[in-house]
Amino acid sequence: MTFTQQDARPELESAPGSEWWRTAVIYQIYPRSFADASGDGLGDLPGVTAHLDDLHELGVDAIWLSPFQRSPQKDAGYDVADYRDVDPIFGTLADFDAMLAGAHERGIRVIVDLVPNHSSDQHVWFQEALKAAPGSPERARYIFRDGKGENGELPPNNWESVFGGGMWKRVTEADGTPGQWYLHIFDESQPDFDWTNPEVRAEFRDILRFWLDRGVDGFRVDVAHGLIKAEGLPDFTPDPEGGSMGGDSAGVPYWGQPGVHEVWRDWHEVLAEYDGDRALCAEAWLPTVAQTALWVRPDEMHQAFNFHYLETTWDAEALRAVITESLDAYGAVGAPSTWVLSNHDVVRHASRLALTAENPQGAGIGPKSPGQPDPVTGLRRARAATSLMLALPGSSYLYQGEELGLPEVIDLPDDARQDPTWFRTNGERYGRDGCRVPIPWSADAPAYGFNDTGAAWLPQPAEWAEFARDVQRDDPASTLSLYRSLLAERRAHGLGAGTLEWLEGFGDDVVAFRNGPITVIANLGDTAVALPAGDVVVASGPLDGASLPTDTTVWIAAA
Ligand code: NOJ
Repeated sequence: MTFTQQDARPELESAPGSEWWRTAVIYQIYPRSFADASGDGLGDLPGVTAHLDDLHELGVDAIWLSPFQRSPQKDAGYDVADYRDVDPIFGTLADFDAMLAGAHERGIRVIVDLVPNHSSDQHVWFQEALKAAPGSPERARYIFRDGKGENGELPPNNWESVFGGGMWKRVTEADGTPGQWYLHIFDESQPDFDWTNPEVRAEFRDILRFWLDRGVDGFRVDVAHGLIKAEGLPDFTPDPEGGSMGGDSAGVPYWGQPGVHEVWRDWHEVLAEYDGDRALCAEAWLPTVAQTALWVRPDEMHQAFNFHYLETTWDAEALRAVITESLDAYGAVGAPSTWVLSNHDVVRHASRLALTAENPQGAGIGPKSPGQPDPVTGLRRARAATSLMLALPGSSYLYQGEELGLPEVIDLPDDARQDPTWFRTNGERYGRDGCRVPIPWSADAPAYGFNDTGAAWLPQPAEWAEFARDVQRDDPASTLSLYRSLLAERRAHGLGAGTLEWLEGFGDDVVAFRNGPITVIANLGDTAVALPAGDVVVASGPLDGASLPTDTTVWIAAA
């Protein structure tokens, strides 16, 4: 399809109280795996621009781009060396501007990733800190401490990195002697900033303005729960069963400290200086929904990913509970819930929903993981789960490739893996590469149309031709067609701005509710469920006459 001005959706401006982010469906682009215009095997910004018509055709309201700023790519760009430039592997600032303009022309808003918890060790500030003396203003931008032990040979505390191993690295001082230690929640190439330092705060206000001035519609804020550390950096031993981003544990001295809220209030004011409802979305893994809702009070962030929803298993009672709790908690602070099922850090939901063993967030799955998913069950559940999610009031995020029904790539060769988690745990945790494989566009093209050369930074599975967009585009039963219908009907019936009313009487294994004119029924049980009267607007899978088969969701409009 070719875009024409007539296709443009309503103006980018919106009336107070109906801000776009309250109801938007936002599509996550992981630039290195989306589309590769240069042919070097890594996706890039011109690749995004080239596919804006596909996103317009899909029907999303906005895109969020994972980091494309200058970076040595030790953590796929979440290690930023220059916050005000595009990394040459992704293009140039001019490429960014062209992509942004192209998106806006199509009525698609653009959110960029901002990584404020840590920089790359190649950032000029960190390089200056390494050269400077202990106690200097250069060191005070990061978290440097003297070590424990007789000669400072022990780390300042017992904290363990999210990616495995210790959270401190010792530096060599300018005179060649072993020196202080610096904190890195993630890889040692990602030193944490000290957010108690006003200079750090001023710098990030300025970085926000740099991108706002260019016209971005908002920011997805990386590790929003990590910026402030508990006073005195007390020892802490995490729950070994917990997810790596800490979502399950309470009282962690480096997650969810109350001091972060001051930062969001400050940023809220910066965004408010700009026209057009610019928005902040928190990546915050916190123990409870109620705690996460504090991130989206009226003068703080606008959205926070609902990871409690993402982490809910395929169980009707659990889903009803988390949906009710979310609508209550976010509603109490006047915010939408921001639903999400997949992203670049978790096992794709077309595989995750069929896992038969525990899988802590961030661990990934590989050939030796227990509880391998059945792909047919996984895809059926994923289609049903997305059909349920997109009927809920609020905003939703989609992750590139889920509209094609892509599964996690489980059997990546060990020597292809690139996630620091894999290296820092000596292969004990597979990490996140399996959800980051470049996506297929054309069944018969090199690299499935990811580029023209056939190069791909992670190998694409041989069976991915069947998932290619061109194969699915005209097939009414395809996952792509399902997503297109869901997005069109959601928009037509105003479901994002609607109200949920639970329906009883369908049995314990069914999630049933009404949102405006649409009745939504998801059957998570083993036996088929009789459908009420009405017109089927969309179904996640084939129906069996007037009954709804297992792992299927249907939207019905009153006859
Ligand atoms: C969360 C990001 O989503 C993840 O990919 C990254 O590794 C960490 N933050 C560190 O920035």
